[in-house]
Amino acid sequence: MIKPVAWTARTFTFDLPLNMFPAVLERLHGTPADAAELVSHVAEELCNRRWNEKWSAKENLGHLADLDLLNEQRLHEFLAGTPVLSAADPKNRITEAAGHNQVPMALLLERLRTNRFNWVRKLEALNEDEVARTAFHPRLQQPMRLLDWAYFVAEHDDHHLALARQATLNAARSTAVAGSAVGETGEKIQPTTYGIPTDRELFEIPDGVTYLNCANMAPQLRSITAAGINAVRAKAIPWTLSTPQWFSGAEELRSLAAQVIGADADGVALVPAVSYAIATAAANLPLASGQTIVVLDQEFPSNVYAWRELAKTKNGRVVTVLRKAGENWTKALLQAIDETTAIVAVPHCHWTDGSKVDLEVVGESTRGVGAALVIDASQSLGASVLDLERVKPDFLTAVGYKWLLGPYGLGYLYVAPKWRESGIPLEQSWLTRAGSEDFSRLVDYTDDYRAGARRFDMGEFPQFVLAPMAIMALKQILAWGVVRIEAALSAMTERVAQLATESNYSVLPAADRSAHLIGIRPRRGISAELPKALKEANVFVSIRGDSIRVAPHLYNKAKDIDLLFEVLRRTCT
Ligand SMILES: Cc1ncc(COP(=O)(O)O)c(C=O)c1O
Repeated sequence: MIKPVAWTARTFTFDLPLNMFPAVLERLHGTPADAAELVSHVAEELCNRRWNEKWSAKENLGHLADLDLLNEQRLHEFLAGTPVLSAADPKNRITEAAGHNQVPMALLLERLRTNRFNWVRKLEALNEDEVARTAFHPRLQQPMRLLDWAYFVAEHDDHHLALARQATLNAARSTAVAGSAVGETGEKIQPTTYGIPTDRELFEIPDGVTYLNCANMAPQLRSITAAGINAVRAKAIPWTLSTPQWFSGAEELRSLAAQVIGADADGVALVPAVSYAIATAAANLPLASGQTIVVLDQEFPSNVYAWRELAKTKNGRVVTVLRKAGENWTKALLQAIDETTAIVAVPHCHWTDGSKVDLEVVGESTRGVGAALVIDASQSLGASVLDLERVKPDFLTAVGYKWLLGPYGLGYLYVAPKWRESGIPLEQSWLTRAGSEDFSRLVDYTDDYRAGARRFDMGEFPQFVLAPMAIMALKQILAWGVVRIEAALSAMTERVAQLATESNYSVLPAADRSAHLIGIRPRRGISAELPKALKEANVFVSIRGDSIRVAPHLYNKAKDIDLLFEVLRRTCT
């Protein structure tokens, strides 16, 4: 194999005629397709591998996606007449820190495709005068036209495509030499897939950590870390941000959240927290003097305080539903809902132990007395199937950082059509007003809002750093599919239930608990030794009241549950 020349050793004579620009553009357009073709028959495992400390195929291709940020910046500089172009980072710190080897190839290619498409689209719109503009390249120490720069990027693309190919060939060869047979088709090395069994490596969980606490906060997908780093870098060059981009990320996120919820994109607002969403519902739902708001006993505070406040100001009353021994929440709720009820504010499952609320049945009863249904689905959305059409909530909210796997500080609020046209948002953001897309007319004040639930969007909803991370999270959830996630987690909670029963813990009957989240209760109470023992074993669960809450996700294996029970056996029984 011929060793390729170092990129920084290359010299350039820039003499292409201007009418070569379309052909150069074609090369730039084609890079993501070339990259996809290059790795299409290569096992994912080989694409992750470095050779002699040189970048792997993923790192070479990820580097091209990383550099499209610099490309955006330099394009802006050419067009703005900046005399000297921004310098590339000679240490390539973004690529070094991005963890490309942990990102699935499919996501990496998608990022390359998206970044490249956005940039090349802008190049396509240039005229001859613009393509002929000149700026000084700081490393090459020579002037270049925009055309020359485009050619230079195409050469750089080819350089890294060639390195990526060599990395895969070297990885395959070293595998064969090491005797771990790789057939011509690589059939003995199974590529990492989106499939349920092999997904731990997609997350940032070190060996030795047994994380069974998704109900507290999801560990981070490596692809989300990469998206976050990219987003922080993009935020550093605000002059490349176009006006439509203030809205496009939020719209993509809204539409992905709608798909997970089973709603239309118009019905979803972006909110910072459940407390914000519940306050929005409380500000809009009517409550007459003497009417009641029904909540569950020991409900999470974000779905309680706003209702207590509303009851106080409107002279209403909060009714707390208690569950008798052997009774489920649905039955207890049906007994509490009556003609005095104005609002029923419930979760899909209780946050302490996963005990289930049958939302279809409760929804029907709520509508039957003319009350409104508000759901906090933070402990279920993304891991538990919900039929929105049948449940028909007035408002439904969820945080993004638990079962939706996203970043902290960005959640979702579904609003039924009835409240979208007349509802009053908590805050009066300029961004939620009709016509805010036209930044030149912001002081043409208007009483109208943007369409649908957008009126309830939080201030500064574009969230330039969090939104790309949340988008990556929801794409992954949709790629797996909530039905498959729930089925996989159900197998894990069943194992927990079985081991718990064998170890003399009390567990709710399967019909009364959700499939993804389970609380187990030691009959003689939780030992004071337990937190220390869990910590020493690096096992993470939550203790909520008298319940040990176990919240697995696709990164868990049966051995994690076995380890948890080893620790429990040492302390609780
Ligand atoms: C059921 C439930 N709702 C909401 C939240 C978070 O609420 P907020 O977004 O208001 O901080 C949590 C956090 O643990 C929760 O378990």
